[in-house]
Amino acid sequence: MIRTATLADLDSLVLLENSSFETDRLTRLNFRYLLTKANATLLVDDEEGYIRAYAVILYNSATSTARLYSIAVGAEYRGQRIGQQLLKAVEENAIGNGRLSLRLEVRRDNQSAIKLYQNAGYREIAIIEDYYEDHLEAIRFEKKLAPEK
Ligand SMILES: CC(C)(COP(=O)(O)OP(=O)(O)OC[C@H]1O[C@@H](n2cnc3c(N)ncnc32)[C@H](O)[C@@H]1OP(=O)(O)O)[C@@H](O)C(=O)NCCC(=O)NCCS
Repeated sequence: MIRTATLADLDSLVLLENSSFETDRLTRLNFRYLLTKANATLLVDDEEGYIRAYAVILYNSATSTARLYSIAVGAEYRGQRIGQQLLKAVEENAIGNGRLSLRLEVRRDNQSAIKLYQNAGYREIAIIEDYYEDHLEAIRFEKKLAPEK
């Protein structure tokens, strides 16, 4: 079941984060801020109380573009389309919040994530040099969620 995260999910979120990323990790404090103060939505895939995946969407009242800030599926659950389903839920959340497009950045060497976004209809719109802590570049992807009025 995909649902909105709460503070009770903090431990699971931190565990998932640390086992999913080598650099640029979100800390417990980052997650707490995202859950309580940020203009953000945090979704989790909850399988009978076990958090298999999470996604963070950032909203900015000044733009009609939402940003997928982070997404991760637990290592033992990858390759089962959980990422694809969560990404769909992210897009529905953004549409529900009146957003017309979704953007995200991904490491150039992250083949499974790039595949996930390309299969879901995202287009490469920019390369950003020296984006990550280890100086690797990012590819920025975008998907139009709804026709422009
Ligand atoms: C990127 C990620 C979210 C994809 O989630 P997922 O649930 O494994 O994705 P899906 O099952 O929907 O498959 C997406 C792609 O993953 C790849 N994949 C398939 N099996 C895999 C496996 N066992 N392990 C890793 N990747 C696999 C495939 O390329 C697949 O593309 P395909 O449809 O052409 O086969 C997940 O790999 C992950 O959490 N990675 C670590 C964190 C991360 O990099 N997040 C993205 C930051 S931008």
